[in-house]
Amino acid sequence: MNEQPHFILDGQSFALPRIEGTEGEKAIDIQRLRFHSNYKVHDPGYANTSSCLSSLTFVDGERGILRHRGYAIEDLAAKASFLELAYALIYEDLPCQSALKAFEDSLWAESFLDPKLEALAAILPNQASALGMFYTLMGSLGAFYTDLLKLPDKNDADAIDRIGLSLLAKVASIAALVYRLKNNIHKPVCTEEPIYTKRLLCSLLNGKSPSAEALASMTRALDTFLLLHADHEQNCSTATVRMIASSGGSLLGAICGGISALSGPLHGGANTRVIHMLEAILASEDDGAHFIQNTKKGEAKLMGFGHRVYKNHDPRALLLKQLAKDLLFTLNIQDPLLAIAKNLETKVLKDPYFIERKLYPNLDFYSGILLRALNIPLDMFTILFVIGRTSGWIAHYKELVLAQNSPLYRPRQIYVGPPSRPFLSLNARQTH
Ligand code: SDX
Repeated sequence: MNEQPHFILDGQSFALPRIEGTEGEKAIDIQRLRFHSNYKVHDPGYANTSSCLSSLTFVDGERGILRHRGYAIEDLAAKASFLELAYALIYEDLPCQSALKAFEDSLWAESFLDPKLEALAAILPNQASALGMFYTLMGSLGAFYTDLLKLPDKNDADAIDRIGLSLLAKVASIAALVYRLKNNIHKPVCTEEPIYTKRLLCSLLNGKSPSAEALASMTRALDTFLLLHADHEQNCSTATVRMIASSGGSLLGAICGGISALSGPLHGGANTRVIHMLEAILASEDDGAHFIQNTKKGEAKLMGFGHRVYKNHDPRALLLKQLAKDLLFTLNIQDPLLAIAKNLETKVLKDPYFIERKLYPNLDFYSGILLRALNIPLDMFTILFVIGRTSGWIAHYKELVLAQNSPLYRPRQIYVGPPSRPFLSLNARQTH
């Protein structure tokens, strides 16, 4: 079973090494394919391509399995905090009590923002979108904290850890600052709260003060939301972070690239579009059947459904569905969108069109309903996804930089443009 796969291409016969991962995933190592033949492999969107060896996250899309550092997502969601998972991703295993406390304290110490950055934020145009402000201010961190633009050194893991911790702290502080500006709240709130997720939640409450019991449930729900968004192997935005890391770019630059990739509607921008879709179905007083018909005619996409890897249930969607239901019940909130979402899911999972395409709810389908229960505005949804995913981006950046042989990411292509042709002077060119 361990013999190398053999190939015969244009009369050339050769073998290429096979790779097998911890969980039995198999790959053919094609690094010497062009040495043995004049062939490349062609894989638009890299759907069948492994770009690296990683120890962070395992996803089995056929069986709906997700594990981080070997721990099942169901166990982590039920028994761990977001910071415990963030620590495990960045520092290789779950923290002991004292390490977790030190991590929490360091994040708090790093959470404060330079008053000049807050002054810069205050002069951003009011009409700027929350994501536009967030992206601008994240990029500005390099101007106020020049150490954050330090280029990686594979012999200095401490520097990566130091910068990563600062960015994990500041990404939440900048989200809180953007929320404050977009909601005309003039003074920072909860900066003295030492607990990461509670500090973030308090900064998003717009002055409301829920009961201690409600606040505890809301904090736990937001914390599990962040945990479920922490990492997901080589998704589009994480692959972007690794792409930038491979050139020796800074962690801050890589995270800014990740934010750009994640905010696209096919990726992390889907959570807001799910709410738009559910609200449109509610407004149309349709039970979703008309929307499903439009989708089957190719006129719409079911936002929050489908996944490049999961061809079975996304375990995170199952967990977020229960989390949203429980929080709405605890807070005694009736959200009509939950019933619409559940009804849509029931119809889709029974419809042959979607069954044959293996379309199931993904991470983004129920996440927005949970954030609505927390009274978080729609324009903050993707930003909250970024906060959770920043922990995974830091871990992947560090793993790539410290790996023995991380080559520059530089995919090839197959050229299909015009063949060689003589140059035409300007006068000789015909107007088109
Ligand atoms: C995230 O990669 C990750 O891990 C991402 C993520 C993470 O944690 O980082 O899990 C987070 O980004 C989740 C995905 C959020 N995006 C959406 O909800 C947007 C809607 N989903 C689709 O755009 C789509 O499902 C993708 C982009 C997510 C995945 O698309 P693929 O793998 O490229 O699949 P495909 O486009 O080849 O689709 C296969 C078929 C096609 O039909 P046919 O051409 O075969 O007839 O399924 C159809 C597609 O048209 N299809 C959909 C659909 N998704 C796929 N049809 C209707 N609605 C959809 N949502």
